[in-house]
Amino acid sequence: MTIKIDGVKVAASIKAEIKEETYRIWRDRAEKICLAVILVGDNPASQVYVRLKEKDCADVGIVSIKHTPPPDISMEDLLGLIDDLNNDPSVHGIILQLPIPGHLDANIALDRINPDKDVDGFHPLNVGLLSQNLATLMPCTPTGCMELLDRYKIPIEGAHAVVVGRSNIVGKPVAAMLLHRNATVTICHSRTADLGAITSKGDILVAAIGKPGFVTADMVKPGAAVIDVGTSRVGTRLKGDVDYDGVYEKAGWITPVPGGVGPMTRAVLLQNTITAYKLQRKLIVGLLDEHGRKRK
Ligand code: GUN
Repeated sequence: MTIKIDGVKVAASIKAEIKEETYRIWRDRAEKICLAVILVGDNPASQVYVRLKEKDCADVGIVSIKHTPPPDISMEDLLGLIDDLNNDPSVHGIILQLPIPGHLDANIALDRINPDKDVDGFHPLNVGLLSQNLATLMPCTPTGCMELLDRYKIPIEGAHAVVVGRSNIVGKPVAAMLLHRNATVTICHSRTADLGAITSKGDILVAAIGKPGFVTADMVKPGAAVIDVGTSRVGTRLKGDVDYDGVYEKAGWITPVPGGVGPMTRAVLLQNTITAYKLQRKLIVGLLDEHGRKRK
């Protein structure tokens, strides 16, 4: 029997835990945890995502502050805004919503965010720490995928995990996380030859390609855990990378779209914001010292 992985339910239980924690911090330390979101330009999808992030924060008692500089903001002024947020002790997490307009350099801007406030886990220092299995702040979507595997007790150690997609945001970090949990990991991508022959070997199959319905039943190993990270808008509907109806019977576990990984990404962002607060207040010890060097 196939188990449908309920990301909405898991995310709700994580949010309930976070709400208790933000209340405890407010009660015991008289501090409100704060997430700053920078939204440049008028990308409609980004506007929706940012609105959802603001709602999530409100649900759990995290303060969110949205900065919407003009779309023609200079690189210098954007970096100045990031510096101001880095230096503001009442701001604990910073997100630069991507994509940003073409005249701006996203990599330079992301590099400027204080790594201890980097709740997206996109700063090169945090990316490097993840590759060494030493990270405290890690990207939200891959963390959400791992959390789903764990909460549904899907075996990872010794499993063959196949990741389709090699993005910096999902494919590469989720592959690293699976590897650190002792899975045998294969990363496939748009140039992979005989893709289906590889995906159909996966005990765990993570689809993060951005092509709606791309993964069909013939590409899936019977009983596999199929984690669908895709969220393509097709007409008015959100479609995953997996042909859900076709794959359902063959899979052991499967995430729906919507209602699978998406809500988990949002819940992990809130978790990361609490973690960032704790790092800054030294309630947990990160692996970097005050100079950004790895602690001994
Ligand atoms: N744009 C789409 N997804 C994301 C995300 O996870 N973080 C940021 N900063 N921008 C995004």
